[in-house]
Amino acid sequence: MTDWKAAFTATFDAPASEVSARIWAEVYGDEYPAELDTYSFVTRSDLHRIAAEARLEPRGRLADIGCGRGGPGLWVAARTYATLTGVDIAETALASARRRAEAMDVEATDFRVGDFQATGLEDASFEAVMSVDALLFAPDKRRACEEFARILVPGGRLLVTTWDFDGQPVNRPPQVADHRPLLEAAGFDVLSYEETPDWRARQRRTMELSSLHATAISHLDAVVARATTASR
Ligand SMILES: C[S@@+](CC[C@H](N)C(=O)[O-])C[C@H]1O[C@@H](n2cnc3c(N)ncnc32)[C@H](O)[C@@H]1O
Repeated sequence: MTDWKAAFTATFDAPASEVSARIWAEVYGDEYPAELDTYSFVTRSDLHRIAAEARLEPRGRLADIGCGRGGPGLWVAARTYATLTGVDIAETALASARRRAEAMDVEATDFRVGDFQATGLEDASFEAVMSVDALLFAPDKRRACEEFARILVPGGRLLVTTWDFDGQPVNRPPQVADHRPLLEAAGFDVLSYEETPDWRARQRRTMELSSLHATAISHLDAVVARATTASR
């Protein structure tokens, strides 16, 4: 089984890939939130939807679990005037998220190491919890849903993007075909459960281009990194 903590720590230790960003921009066009250094398939429309559905008041408390480099959570916090707590297994991602918070001038933020199953956050301490393209890495989806419920205030809102899997992918933690029963068992009312328009075709195209340019991605990113270093 892959050591995801080690894998993501190494991934986020490197600068965001310039080549991948170009591929995402080509496939997603204006829907790609390039300025947020996302490591996911999240679109601008998804982010607008998350911000609207979170129903946060100014200074409301938002948590982003599996926050990566922090872009999506910071964008939603900035838009809703919420405070933000980001949790991730990779400290390297959190270091990047803290720098991004400063650059985006989002003040009330806290980025800390934690796991889907043990976030380390207090009971009933958030009005909204979000998670973008990360829940698939949780080893136990049931416990992750229970953890979402534990940290939310009664009536709090949960906004998640992830995949329902038809089969068990190799080397991934166990996946589920439908998250609704787990959410309901954890005490949630599932208010909406939708597919992002065109997600399948866009992700397929992104993966095709990434595999076509795999060598270029590692080679050109190294060149870009050297050029960036040289120009400092
Ligand atoms: C595909 S990335 C998405 C990152 C970010 N949400 C975004 O949209 O850019 C998945 C994230 O989940 C984190 N992750 C993986 N396993 C985790 C776990 N068990 N608990 C918390 N975070 C985890 C990874 O470190 C990574 O940052």
